[in-house]
Amino acid sequence: MANILVTGAAGFIGSHLVDRLIRDGHRVVGVDNFRLGRRGNLGDALKSGAFSFFEHDVSAGDFPGKFDPGFAVEWVWHMAANSDIAAGGVDPGVDLKDTFLTTFRVLEWMKIHGAGRLAFASTSAVYGMREEAITEDSGPLFPISNYGAMKLAAEAAISAALEAWLGRADIFRFPNVIGARATHGAIFDFVQKLRVTPEVLEVLGDGTQRKPYLHVTELVEAMIFIAECADAKLNYFNIGPEDDVSVRTIAEEVVARVSPGAVIRYGPGGRGWVGDVPRFRYSTAKLRELGWTGGTSSLDAVRRAVDEIARENQGG
Ligand SMILES: NC(=O)c1ccc[n+]([C@@H]2O[C@H](COP(=O)([O-])OP(=O)(O)OC[C@H]3O[C@@H](n4cnc5c(N)ncnc54)[C@H](O)[C@@H]3O)[C@@H](O)[C@H]2O)c1
Repeated sequence: MANILVTGAAGFIGSHLVDRLIRDGHRVVGVDNFRLGRRGNLGDALKSGAFSFFEHDVSAGDFPGKFDPGFAVEWVWHMAANSDIAAGGVDPGVDLKDTFLTTFRVLEWMKIHGAGRLAFASTSAVYGMREEAITEDSGPLFPISNYGAMKLAAEAAISAALEAWLGRADIFRFPNVIGARATHGAIFDFVQKLRVTPEVLEVLGDGTQRKPYLHVTELVEAMIFIAECADAKLNYFNIGPEDDVSVRTIAEEVVARVSPGAVIRYGPGGRGWVGDVPRFRYSTAKLRELGWTGGTSSLDAVRRAVDEIARENQGG
């Protein structure tokens, strides 16, 4: 059992991860600045004696010297980032601070405090626009969003730390992740919009965008599986289904669940926002070769998440 730091612990994925690590018997300390995360996401964890929480801005220059969890940490799961890709399109400084600098400071913190193992939430956005099913070795890597650019820069900083002093890094590149406690994303946005205007749903883009969707419980399972089964100094894996679902289908599923009969109005063009990768498919052959047998389809993940997010946000 390990002493583990989770950054972004109050966020969507971070909070599910915290719950799982506690269940597995680890001692966990969480950090978040509540930029998007919510204390409520940690409701179960905060009842556990194996969990402690600190409110901190991980990107701050004094974080590495100042933050003291009160015990020696050997393993860091770095989940904190700006998860609002569109916001980074408007102001790239958001991604510089919350996606790149958080990683830079986490590495500084780990070096000072002697933590030798890192798990990092990366993204399909590092690959940019690609025609073929994306493998881990697809390239050259030219992201089209500031978010993807700062995640790629963060991966590069991790790689450099491995050469100098870091013992091991697992880099997980995942696509759209969905499920209970979501703080953002198409399903969350559609549910929120229908709450305000139950008779009409405005969709960004023409609905033809098609992407893989992964349920958060399967993501957490897969990350832990990789952490346990891969054994290189640097492990990097795509996680996700190989099929995809259109935004049009997601809009229809949300309307059917939360506001049947609502009119769906699509916007112009095949992209939701600047930096949106409208279509991509994943190859997860590398993960399956490691022995992973998970295989929920994108559509099943969407249906499950629509129900969970509707329950949380509409009480029904
Ligand atoms: N959800 C997805 O579809 C998806 C896909 C690929 C990668 N990721 C990555 O997974 C990780 C978790 O994403 P999520 O979907 O749970 O998003 P989220 O926004 O719910 O979680 C991120 C958390 O980080 C916190 N945070 C941001 N900046 C911080 C800072 N400077 N200091 C401390 N805390 C800070 C936020 O408050 C939030 O709680 C992120 O690194 C994200 O980039 C998410």
